[in-house]
Amino acid sequence: MSRALMINGLTVPVPVIQGGMGVGVSLSGLAGNVAKCGGVGIISTAQIGYQESGFEEHPIETNLRAIAKHICRAKEIAGGRGAVGVNIMVATRRYEDYVKAAVKAGADLIISGAGLPTVLPSLVEKSRTRIAPVVSSIKSASVICRLWDRKYKRCPDLMVIEGPKAGGHLGFAREELERVTDTEYEKEIQGIIAVSKEYGTKYGYQIPVVVAGGIYDGKDMEHALELGADGVQVATRFVTTYECDASEEYKQAYIDAEEKDIVLVQSPVGMPGRAVKNAFILGKKDKPKDWKCHQCLAKCNPEKIPYCITDALVNAVKGNLDKGLIFCGTNAWRAKKLEHVSEIMEEFKTAAELSH
Ligand SMILES: Cc1cc2nc3c(=O)[nH]c(=O)nc-3n(C[C@H](O)[C@H](O)[C@H](O)COP(=O)(O)O)c2cc1C
Repeated sequence: MSRALMINGLTVPVPVIQGGMGVGVSLSGLAGNVAKCGGVGIISTAQIGYQESGFEEHPIETNLRAIAKHICRAKEIAGGRGAVGVNIMVATRRYEDYVKAAVKAGADLIISGAGLPTVLPSLVEKSRTRIAPVVSSIKSASVICRLWDRKYKRCPDLMVIEGPKAGGHLGFAREELERVTDTEYEKEIQGIIAVSKEYGTKYGYQIPVVVAGGIYDGKDMEHALELGADGVQVATRFVTTYECDASEEYKQAYIDAEEKDIVLVQSPVGMPGRAVKNAFILGKKDKPKDWKCHQCLAKCNPEKIPYCITDALVNAVKGNLDKGLIFCGTNAWRAKKLEHVSEIMEEFKTAAELSH
């Protein structure tokens, strides 16, 4: 018997959420296949339309259309199994329109981090879309639960705890990332679980909690479940799959990387991020003369940024690595070969059964 993840009436047979990965790393191909294996496949909406015609002229409108296209395609691949959701960063320019597009397209779940999703409940009212904030500390968990409780008389359907080993932009100061130990962060995880219990009790609902950041194999998952989590969110492990939407070059960069090649970088958006060290990180970066803003973040000042984060991530996902930022989690170096999503999901399913 496996332990299913229950997200407010939505049953997820294998308690694994594949973390959203932008730009273009988790689209319908990866998300649909994770759902097909009984997990939650998450499509990243960050510049989701980058391959579509019209993106250069009207990036936001093209992205909004691409959300519906990818949710629909992922659900087709899934064939009714698992669940399909989206990751929408709070920092996204016109965040509310992205949420509305995802709800309209029938997303089962919206996960929102990179800021606190203070207005998210008002955007999903009367829909079947469940909502989950991403939190990294007891403090941020308490703030968002208190706010939703006071303003919307509700609690989250799910909480995602993203720790310091995650990939992409990170919700910690650089010093914290370098200092915090596993044992210290495990205390934080248990504190966040306590916050979720407190607010769940108030609403007669058991808020499920998933742990993200550094979960790579069945053993890592068993450990997270022992700490009291109901499931895990996994991103880096899914990059080196045949089904992942990134280019072969992107996947090969993970396979070729050694542990010493996984580094912290300061992203132009002002947050630290983690990536594979390459010529782009080491070299001089500047915007081309004919550079045009792609309208990704609400708070970017195009005059001041050293390089454009959209360009760097799009270059990477397309395989133009010398001009690309290859986001990854601390465990990217552990990939030795390409795998099928089904093999990874089988490993996690077994781990969940063992922990039951
Ligand atoms: C390549 C890559 C891109 C990511 N992009 C996003 C993103 O666009 N939005 C977001 O909220 N999290 C993003 N993340 C974080 C993941 O969703 C996930 O929570 C985290 O990486 C889990 O840790 P793991 O990679 O060690 O499994 C990204 C992670 C990776 C590896």
